[in-house]
Amino acid sequence: MRILITGGAGFIGSHIVEAYLQQGHEVLVVDNLSRGRRENLPPGVPLIVMDVRDPALRSVAADFRPEVLNHQAAQVDVAAATADPIEDASVNLLGTLNVLQAVARAGVRRVIVASSAAVYGEPERLPVEEDHPLRPISPYGLSKMAMEAYVRWLGERHEIEWVILRYGNVYGPRQTIVGEAGVVARFLRAMRDGSRPVIFGDGEQTRDFVHVADVARANLLALRRGAGGVYNIGTGREVSIRELYERLGRLLGDRGEAEYRPPRPGDIRRMVLKVERAARELGWEPRIFIEEGLADLASRT
Ligand SMILES: NC(=O)c1ccc[n+]([C@@H]2O[C@H](COP(=O)([O-])OP(=O)(O)OC[C@H]3O[C@@H](n4cnc5c(N)ncnc54)[C@H](O)[C@@H]3O)[C@@H](O)[C@H]2O)c1
Repeated sequence: MRILITGGAGFIGSHIVEAYLQQGHEVLVVDNLSRGRRENLPPGVPLIVMDVRDPALRSVAADFRPEVLNHQAAQVDVAAATADPIEDASVNLLGTLNVLQAVARAGVRRVIVASSAAVYGEPERLPVEEDHPLRPISPYGLSKMAMEAYVRWLGERHEIEWVILRYGNVYGPRQTIVGEAGVVARFLRAMRDGSRPVIFGDGEQTRDFVHVADVARANLLALRRGAGGVYNIGTGREVSIRELYERLGRLLGDRGEAEYRPPRPGDIRRMVLKVERAARELGWEPRIFIEEGLADLASRT
């Protein structure tokens, strides 16, 4: 298949590019390299350095004629979104709309988009299933929620198949220390540098940590399955930030104390995702749980 992938030079996007190439697909990456890096991409992968808000995206799509759009590009920082919600909405909402319209005109058949557990806000019940009410508590969650609504609208208007993947906290190789879920990368960096890792809040807040290789595999399965579906992509395991910190400390032989700072606005208290729908409809299940994923990362440091 011919696949246009936005944000393909970023952390998650570059793993998806690799997974698509391994299956023999033709890939074109659009990324403005604000966070992504050319070196994240395997050699020879075509990259167009462009902002997703650029009207010129229309001619890029018209020339490439993608069968599938995989949309990963986003403003990914919850704190930055809270500080500047207009910029967040500009990239995550208007940028997404610009990409969607460009590929719709070019005859795309399916769009796969990266959403987030942030759309749920503070959960009423755990684990969170896909039909849980959407009450985001951050502008980032709001822009992702609105993005999802536009994807559905576009799908109906142009008869384009769509798949929405709501990721938990993704971690793994190539993650940078900024971003929505950079906590694993931040802890690793601090422990390596001998500085004190920072925990925002009391450390009892929880997340569902999902390995990037599993996320890439979900995006591979979404090429052929799951049309018209919204899927949580997590592990179903609730892990506190303190537990994460202690696990990494044990792996790296670090006994330093963390530095506790006030909680950040927009941070959810508890999160763990129900992932049975993805198992049933996409044929996807997480394979790498936190013990293995963290041990692998620690062995690379
Ligand atoms: N990392 C996580 O835990 C997590 C969790 C839930 C959802 N997500 C979503 O997954 C997707 C990928 O996130 P990531 O963690 O790989 O982050 P990332 O920052 O590594 O990747 C985002 C990519 O988009 C590019 N980009 C940003 N703004 C752009 C713009 N205006 N125009 C063109 N390109 C632009 C960046 O350069 C980067 O390469 C995002 O949509 C994010 O919201 C990530």
